[in-house]
Amino acid sequence: MRQENEALNVPVWLLRQAGRYLPEYMEVRTKFPDFFEMIKKPEICKELTLQPLRRFPLDAAITFTDILTIPEAMGVDIKFIKGQGPIFADSIKNNSKLKLNESNFLEKLNYVFEATQLIKNEIDVPLIGFSGSPWTLFVYLFYGRSPRDYEIINSYIKNEPENTHAILEVLSNAIQDYISAQIKSGADCIQIFDSWGGILKEQYNEFSLKYINDIRTSLSEDVPMILYAKGTRVASLLTHTNINCFNLDCEESIDDYIDMPLTVQGNFDPKYFHKDDSELKDIADTIFDKYHKKQNYIFNVGSGITPDINPDKVGVFLERLRLFNSK
Ligand code: CP3
Repeated sequence: MRQENEALNVPVWLLRQAGRYLPEYMEVRTKFPDFFEMIKKPEICKELTLQPLRRFPLDAAITFTDILTIPEAMGVDIKFIKGQGPIFADSIKNNSKLKLNESNFLEKLNYVFEATQLIKNEIDVPLIGFSGSPWTLFVYLFYGRSPRDYEIINSYIKNEPENTHAILEVLSNAIQDYISAQIKSGADCIQIFDSWGGILKEQYNEFSLKYINDIRTSLSEDVPMILYAKGTRVASLLTHTNINCFNLDCEESIDDYIDMPLTVQGNFDPKYFHKDDSELKDIADTIFDKYHKKQNYIFNVGSGITPDINPDKVGVFLERLRLFNSK
């Protein structure tokens, strides 16, 4: 049972806390036929970042932008088509000579840094900046869309390891510049999304973690960096990395990591937000009882909030979880 005089602290934020499940997002979104046209407007990014903070008792903001900004800034035309996700005009799979245009790419991303500054000036919670991992961006560049099979890319990296590593190196350097500029603009923390890390299995260290480690090393030690390595097992990464802060996917368990010298968050399956209010409150109480004394626990979901989720349910859950949290 909760006691009002206990030391209470369950910080919360949500993967994809802004976006299509919020009617106020859809209202803005319908004004823009093109997603990139929308996110290139810093004032709009600020508004979309703040929307979930107005509704819910969240302890962090995450800049409203996307992981595909780097490939777009390097000259690949990307459209978001309803029901299909991102569609690239060119892909490595169809064009093995696909070239990334690195010249001035960082200036082309100025809209992200301007948005970061605008957001930072208006919030009193930490701001999370982010990037896709080199591998996950490579996956999108390879397929030119979200992958539907894993075989073709696995045989490509086996047959073309040099070309693969050359592209990963370009992306890794670009990401280092990109997140460093986000931090200079006001981001307090960086999350690296390795959303397609699970494709790699035993080659994960060689094609993904190695580059994420380089990114971690490039950052000042006092900037926290969270890794979301979806589809991997964090336990198997620990001997190959100094990263100590993880956003776990829905397949892992917080309890496997909570007593390690790590900060852990995530794992909560967003499908629980479909349960009725009383069940949701019980789940919130269980999580609170279990973790509120743990200094290394942050509540988050294990995969992004999807458009089918009713934001009122998210509100019921978070209000309950945060009931006694001191501000
Ligand atoms: O609050 C937030 O988290 C919003 C900022 C944000 C977006 N994308 C906005 C967005 C963040 C952190 C992302 C990360 C992202 N983008 C990831 C990693 C997280 C994960 O879920 O694994 C990935 C893989 C992408 C790539 C991407 N962008 C896809 C596959 C899509 C299409 C469909 C979808 O929503 O999943 C996008 C477009 C996108 N990015 C939307 C939003 C709100 C929807 C676009 C629309 O309104 O049409």
